[in-house]
Amino acid sequence: MRHPSNVPVRLTDYRPADFLIDSVALDFRLDRTATRVVATLTLRRNPKGVPGAALVLDGDELTLVSLKLDGRALGPQEYEATPDRLTLSAVPDGPFTLEIETRVDPTANTQLSGLYRSGSAYCTQCEAEGFRRITYFLDRPDVLSVYTTRIEADEREAPVLLANGNPVEAGKIAGGSRHYAVWRDPFPKPSYLFALVGGDLGVVRDSFTTMSGREVALAIYVEHGKEARAEYAMDALKRSMRWDEEKFGREYDLDVFNIVAVSDFNMGAMENKGLNVFNDKYVLASPETATDGDYAGIEAVIAHEYFHNWTGNRITCRDWFQLCLKEGLTVFRDHEFSADMRSRPVQRISEVRGLRLVQFPEDAGPLAHPVRPSVYHEINNFYTSTVYEKGSELVRMLRTLIGAETFRRGMDIYFERFDGTAATVEDFLSCFAEASGRDLSQFALWYSQAGTPVLSSEGAYDPDAKTFTLTLKQETRPTPGQTDKKPVVIPVALALFSENGQKLDLASRDARPEELSRGLVELTGAERRLTFENVPSRPIVSLLRGFSAPVRLEPAPASADLERQLAFDDDPFNRWQAAQSLALRAIFARVDAARQGAAAPEAPGYVAALRTLLVGADADPAFAAQALSLPSVIDLAREAGSDVDPDVHHAARMGLRAEIGGALRADAEAAYARFADKGPYRPDAAGAGRRALRAVALDLVAAGDPQKGGALAQELFRNAGNMTDRLSALTTLALLGGDAREAAFESFYKQFADDPLVLDKWFSLQATIPEPATTQRVIKLMSHPDFSLTNPNRLRALIGAFANANLTCFHALDGSGYDLLTRVVLDVDPRNPQVAARLLSSLRAWRTLEARRRALVEAKLRDIVAREGLSADTRDIATRALA
Ligand code: ARG
Ligand code: ZN
Repeated sequence: MRHPSNVPVRLTDYRPADFLIDSVALDFRLDRTATRVVATLTLRRNPKGVPGAALVLDGDELTLVSLKLDGRALGPQEYEATPDRLTLSAVPDGPFTLEIETRVDPTANTQLSGLYRSGSAYCTQCEAEGFRRITYFLDRPDVLSVYTTRIEADEREAPVLLANGNPVEAGKIAGGSRHYAVWRDPFPKPSYLFALVGGDLGVVRDSFTTMSGREVALAIYVEHGKEARAEYAMDALKRSMRWDEEKFGREYDLDVFNIVAVSDFNMGAMENKGLNVFNDKYVLASPETATDGDYAGIEAVIAHEYFHNWTGNRITCRDWFQLCLKEGLTVFRDHEFSADMRSRPVQRISEVRGLRLVQFPEDAGPLAHPVRPSVYHEINNFYTSTVYEKGSELVRMLRTLIGAETFRRGMDIYFERFDGTAATVEDFLSCFAEASGRDLSQFALWYSQAGTPVLSSEGAYDPDAKTFTLTLKQETRPTPGQTDKKPVVIPVALALFSENGQKLDLASRDARPEELSRGLVELTGAERRLTFENVPSRPIVSLLRGFSAPVRLEPAPASADLERQLAFDDDPFNRWQAAQSLALRAIFARVDAARQGAAAPEAPGYVAALRTLLVGADADPAFAAQALSLPSVIDLAREAGSDVDPDVHHAARMGLRAEIGGALRADAEAAYARFADKGPYRPDAAGAGRRALRAVALDLVAAGDPQKGGALAQELFRNAGNMTDRLSALTTLALLGGDAREAAFESFYKQFADDPLVLDKWFSLQATIPEPATTQRVIKLMSHPDFSLTNPNRLRALIGAFANANLTCFHALDGSGYDLLTRVVLDVDPRNPQVAARLLSSLRAWRTLEARRRALVEAKLRDIVAREGLSADTRDIATRALA
């Protein structure tokens, strides 16, 4: 495999390539086990490279068939070819062409990187370093070339032949059943954006007229018979194209835009120029098979990949350390799109929930790394929540700091200045420094410094002087390899409220006027003290409004203040946060009591606040559903931070849930009835909000009165008109257990046995049942005929869900959960290292566990590291996890 050596790649070692490749002509003869690839490269020396340097091209598991330089066949003494490198020590100083013929076996490609087969189709995945598994190349993002791709295949096997760019020519090959197609992409691009697809696929077509009046032919290719399920994705695509024109002035640039959905895919989707390839999970949806969450996911990922056309493709990354340049920025753009399409506050809450669920633990554990890492062993392991989600938060923070208008001007400069180039984070920031006239050097620390800063606040009210003094402090704990942390610039959005909910004008000599008028103060040093004047009584402080920076805020305000905030804060995010903080406090009070053998303390104030939310849910059901949801055991583990025992957290959480369910039973039943499905299913935000609230109500009924909840859930399960309701019924039944649960799982299976994406839900839900028998159930499910170790979606559905979302079982004290995970990781590793490594990173927070579990995990990690023949991917995660 690749990188057998232990040599890390470092940002500081970046050197421009010694050669440039101006154009690439690719000729594919598709064959299941022996595909021929002829690549004709036009090369010349890079004036920025080392003069006289040898030409060294990257490869990975390649077989060289023949090699020609300027048309002359080269003898074996004129080059050196290994599976992972092609070296020519003597090449002309002027431009020259190199014709490389390789043979690859797409069927044997179980890594799903390079050219592989998904079902009966041929497809490619080249990011990050998959192109070198197709032909020898300068497989690095700063080498931009114009590509022409000719594909030849059996017409019966692959009537559809697609590649990047615009179609040029197609036809039959005389004497047989073969045909061909030629595609040309006029936009210079790096090799990771190359793609081709060949197969027998169904299609939905549409068109889009761009803002300058150009007509673009749109097509989404799916498995035959599933065309109708691609309609929502098509609609999302058109809305994305319009939105990027309206919000960022970005127009699409080719005559066609194609999307292909495949069922075997390592990640979510890929933004190949003009030919996006998607995990079908993010394309296919129907009311009967997809939940509201699935629809929202499709909308977001379709938008994300489309937005890459400018942020990623037209402007790409100089090197992989700059990954956040395209990913963080594009996540920011898709978040904004979703906020515009749906509810902005609810979208913000779900962004922050996601960030805290994965990125915060990552940033607090052994796998912590900066948004722009400075060293890697295996780049595929850096497609992380830190690069993506924290990367997006940094862009959001930048906009918050300089203001939306200035931000937009900076983006315009960025598109104007760096179009057609491979850029860096410095390039990006320079545009905003110019637009705003601000020095962004301290802001840049956010990109190089790992770890989540802790923002602490302390308030003191002086009733005589009528002043309120707020002290803000920041601290970032050391992370692996980075002990010295500097203060970063933290935009703190804030407001003060009187006890009856009046928003107070901010007056202070310690803040700049525009800080006060915007309600946004900047903390740049370790500490800042602000005294506010004319404060009539002790105020309620609303801090970090809208989650204005990716930090941990400590401590949470007093419960009485949180209850008031929940009642009247005009920042919806902080209202939700107040509910979360109250819940956390109530659960941790139960944890403490349990540890001391004391009776469980009740939380009447919190429960009363929830009653108000539930009764008033009609105003904004989606928001109410979020605010009524308890933190998960994962949230609890993260907030605890150390000495984590998931059993204790789970028990305390279930205790509070029962308390709430008992107290709100009647209101929950009423809400369940009130929010009943009306009319045909529509996947819009309003309908989704009602269904989400109803699911929360059902859960509360089941918590307060299991019998009643079970009866309602069974009825809903039988009569549900859509997958969202059916799955929320099944979730309730899964938690209640007993025969009703088993019968429901069985009937669900029968109904959807032919639908892989729905079966994934069936596997996942079973894997997340929080009871000890689940581990055995998962083991049994692994021998189910529908389970597969080779399909990434199925593997994630069962094993990923178990390891990431079932903390009590995964962290069982007998080590059975860890046994299960490591067995699967080692099994999958030789076939698909990327997916194996990803599964193993579910141990990202292992150091926060209590001692016995920590010892079990450590032994497992040491055992993995000691194995021979481990992939670079899995070795890298296991090694760093031990840091
Ligand atoms: N660029 C893709 C995205 O839109 C991710 C592809 C990464 N794939 C990989 N194997 N590293 O997020
Ligand atoms: Zn992306």
